[in-house]
Amino acid sequence: MKTNQSNIKKAKKYLDKNQCIAVPTETVYGLAANAYSSTSVKKIFNLKKRPLNNPLIVHYYNMNELQKDCYINDNFIKLYNKFSPGPLTFILKLKKDSKISKLVTNNQKSLAVRFPKHPLFRKLLKSLNYPLAAPSANISTRLSSVQYSDVIEEFGSKIKYVLNGGKCKIGVESTIINLLNKPTVLRYGGIDIEKIKKTLKKNILTQTNTKKKIAPGQFYLHYSPGIPLRMNAKKPRLNEAFVLIKKRKVTLKNFYYLSKNNDLKQSAKNLYSLLRKIKKDGYKMVAIEKIKNNGIGKTINDRLHRASKY
Ligand code: TXA
Ligand code: MG
Repeated sequence: MKTNQSNIKKAKKYLDKNQCIAVPTETVYGLAANAYSSTSVKKIFNLKKRPLNNPLIVHYYNMNELQKDCYINDNFIKLYNKFSPGPLTFILKLKKDSKISKLVTNNQKSLAVRFPKHPLFRKLLKSLNYPLAAPSANISTRLSSVQYSDVIEEFGSKIKYVLNGGKCKIGVESTIINLLNKPTVLRYGGIDIEKIKKTLKKNILTQTNTKKKIAPGQFYLHYSPGIPLRMNAKKPRLNEAFVLIKKRKVTLKNFYYLSKNNDLKQSAKNLYSLLRKIKKDGYKMVAIEKIKNNGIGKTINDRLHRASKY
């Protein structure tokens, strides 16, 4: 507890000095900086090698803080009350007098916002007088980081500080919902769309693969382990790592488990770290058995589909 406090102080110190640092969230680690400072935000884009036309998510402690920068609406309030803090990102209208750096939004009039649940991140946000812009803590197009060692693997000594919050509980990024007009899901993520529908008591649109791409999370080749990946595989090919989600009687050296009992939540949690491990173990190809396409399974399949475009 004591160490946590002093680590939060350390993190705050770096952020106050316009540095960017890595922070734990319940989904994946973020590369965070003061969202009101262009000097700070610029460092995120540089470190991540992220194109400037790909806007960032801004993380707030609560709705009061958010209202300094965005207009809220009825759909937002319903979803906020049900799912925040948690793995849901909202696209809202930016206020004209907001102090959010133009770099965060790529000069657009909308802002992606989220209320992260990880207790260390929440304590950090509470201690600051600005919100934090934070994309996933990985080099663009690569796998997101879900633990301290992943962040170090991505950025090495170029990252000033990593607030260590252990392994991320959910393991895949937040669900993104556009609330500017009719609620539209832009990215599958940690919150099941069926639950969003139930909360809003209406059908919602999905736009995760349209030609007109709003969220570059929709772009192909994303979340890539850096080796070719094959989905819905029945058996491994020669020299291929084979990923399973339930226990098999006969096991081979090249078998890896996301889960041993077809548990989708556990599979999501292990997904990125297992793919990293397989690459490190020296495999040049990976195949994954079929994963049920419901609940968070949809999110897993979405990420695998994009990763398979290698
Ligand atoms: O779980 C998460 O959401 C993690 C943690 C760190 O919070 N963050 C994350 O950020 O995944 P990032 O930058 O890797 O993905 C954010 C996605 C991008 O695809 C971006 O294009 C989209 O959100 N986005 C940001 N602002 C947007 C906006 N105003 N309209 C539409 N999409 C937006
Ligand atoms: Mg990302």
